[in-house]
Amino acid sequence: LTDASNSLIYGNWENISSSEAFTHHVNMDAKDLAAYWHRCSLSADFLAQYFALFVPDPAPTGRLRRKDVSSVLAYLLNELFENCAKFSSGPDRTVNLDARIMSDYILIRITNHMSPENQAPFIEIITELLNNDPHELYFQRLEENVEQGLEGSGLGYLTLMKDFGVEFGFRLRSISYQDTAVDVQAKVSLLQD
Ligand SMILES: Nc1ncnc2c1ncn2[C@@H]1O[C@H](COP(=O)(O)OP(=O)(O)OP(=O)(O)O)[C@@H](O)[C@H]1O
Ligand SMILES: [Mg+2]
Repeated sequence: LTDASNSLIYGNWENISSSEAFTHHVNMDAKDLAAYWHRCSLSADFLAQYFALFVPDPAPTGRLRRKDVSSVLAYLLNELFENCAKFSSGPDRTVNLDARIMSDYILIRITNHMSPENQAPFIEIITELLNNDPHELYFQRLEENVEQGLEGSGLGYLTLMKDFGVEFGFRLRSISYQDTAVDVQAKVSLLQD
């Protein structure tokens, strides 16, 4: 799918037109996250607890408890920050997080940048992720990792889909000949399934 601005969109993408629709904004730096790895989990835990305070406690029937929302968000945000730290490339190392807290879900959007030559392999990963059953793909990936002696690589998004029902959308925007912006959107339901 290609939108008006000629960006590539995959998966469950919520098209939020104005930036005002996101009510929380955090700007970070991939170099800082990579320099001290602990910054990923530290920031993730802080923001998870901060956002979870918007969720009513005690939880009304059919809704997730605040502490469960907090732990899903902590896991998710840590994964997103770590990916920005590991996979940012090219001249722009900024990381921007936007969040929107709705009554039935929390929408997180995180943006980092990469060199355009990394675009094709990432698209391959995204399409495999979105076009397969997450449970099957997870175990297939585990076997491959054991065979190739890799450790846990390529399980981040999958685990969040499989174990926490997080819905992902991805957008790649061409900024310049040396810069592609990566927008990852994650929708976390606040309803019990
Ligand atoms: N923010 C990002 N920018 C650029 N490439 C990314 C980004 N996030 C993920 N990728 C690419 O997608 C792949 C899958 O990401 P995922 O988080 O599922 O696995 P991983 O980070 O490689 O391993 P794990 O999360 O299990 O430690 C990564 O290996 C990387 O190539
Ligand atoms: Mg990861």
